Amino acid sequence: MISSYKELLTGHWITDLANTSAFIFQEVPDLNWAGFYLFEDGLLRLGPFQGKPACTEITLDRGVCGAAASSRTTIIVPDVHEFPGHIACDSASRSEIVVPLIYDGKLLGVLDVDSPKLNRFGEKEKSLFEEIAKELVLRSGRNCFMLMR
Ligand code: SME
Repeated sequence: MISSYKELLTGHWITDLANTSAFIFQEVPDLNWAGFYLFEDGLLRLGPFQGKPACTEITLDRGVCGAAASSRTTIIVPDVHEFPGHIACDSASRSEIVVPLIYDGKLLGVLDVDSPKLNRFGEKEKSLFEEIAKELVLRSGRNCFMLMR
């Protein structure tokens, strides 16, 4: 899966974020949301995604996305109802994984993936999404608009 993913990457930041969200949503079964929040002006702002319209801004002290961004580690939530402060953008979501995007020591944002199934994400998915995040940042992280300012 990762080799066909790499073929999609162009080196253009927004283009690659958009196709990455579409790739994950198409290729990984049992998802209801896959996309990005981008770190800008000290908070996470909604980026390219697939799924229902979602909350537009998340501060770093809120939600699974804020927790993954501030700790700079992948967070797996087997049951979102058990995660204090979980932000329910789509009431269908039952489990979630969030992977931080780090380029040259800088937080660019997070990859957020939601499932309507409980306990959908384990070590296999963690490795896959971390590999995707790594390839994405390697290929087009330097072209992230945040770094251009
Ligand atoms: N559930 C996330 C918010 C984003 S939506 O899932 C798309 C969170 O708690 O940070």
